Amino acid sequence: MGEAIAVLSGKGGTGKTTITAAVATALASAGERVLCIDCDVGLRNLDISLGAADQPSLSFLDILQGSYRLDQLVSHPVYPTLYFLTAPMNSAADDIDPEAFWAMIADARRRFDYVFLDAPAGVDAGFRLAAARADRVLLVTGSDPAAVRDAGRTGQMLELMGKTDVRLIVNRIWPKLVSSMDLTVDDVMDDVGLPLIGVVPEDHNVILAAAFGKPLLEYTKRGAAAACQRIAKRICGMPVKIGL
Ligand SMILES: Nc1ncnc2c1ncn2[C@@H]1O[C@H](COP(=O)(O)OP(=O)(O)OP(=O)(O)O)[C@@H](O)[C@H]1O
Ligand SMILES: [Mg+2]
Repeated sequence: MGEAIAVLSGKGGTGKTTITAAVATALASAGERVLCIDCDVGLRNLDISLGAADQPSLSFLDILQGSYRLDQLVSHPVYPTLYFLTAPMNSAADDIDPEAFWAMIADARRRFDYVFLDAPAGVDAGFRLAAARADRVLLVTGSDPAAVRDAGRTGQMLELMGKTDVRLIVNRIWPKLVSSMDLTVDDVMDDVGLPLIGVVPEDHNVILAAAFGKPLLEYTKRGAAAACQRIAKRICGMPVKIGL
């Protein structure tokens, strides 16, 4: 039975989609069967981070409506064990039947080793869809005070929802400031009150890879790509050091 992993943040633009795609491709390149689901209803962009924006794709609504089944998904052009479902563009998250969505996740967990749920910003319907039945949560934050405050609140909400396996990722750390940032990462962990699973550097290759239509790990193996590869290993239970 596979695991459903929700990638969340309170604040928008912290890097959920970027990290979902990079960690998912890292796991798929190690041979794991991975399904990524874009839960950002109306504003999807996970397909871009996966370097698959020009591929024909199904939305998760196609599955919920019974038009297609999960065993009919076509794999990613580069990673044969990676699959994805986009978010429907002409619906609102409130229109999605949560029970049907969670039944799809339960089915996906039987078919895949990892099911990633890339949540939208905020803590509304899309957040609840992604978080409610996830086995574990990756909470992505920046190190700036607004992101840290939102991550702290989101962590409290997840606790109220009974989520026990919640790990923090601090994204967009400047490598040149790493010695002084060590302190900042500790501060972020203390402020948010959650254990860390990874830190990801600020890396212009994230933007370049998307601009060239490539998955980050196909574009480079260094920087943010290497950090996401380490996070993938930690998800698999490997004792990989946290660090840039
Ligand atoms: N480590 C990084 N280095 C440089 N740029 C990054 C990094 N992580 C994310 N970005 C950039 O930040 C922007 C937001 O990233 P992304 O879309 O992954 O965030 P998000 O949390 O999914 O946003 P939203 O809340 O809108 O869904 C993108 O332009 C992305 O290229
Ligand atoms: Mg996103």
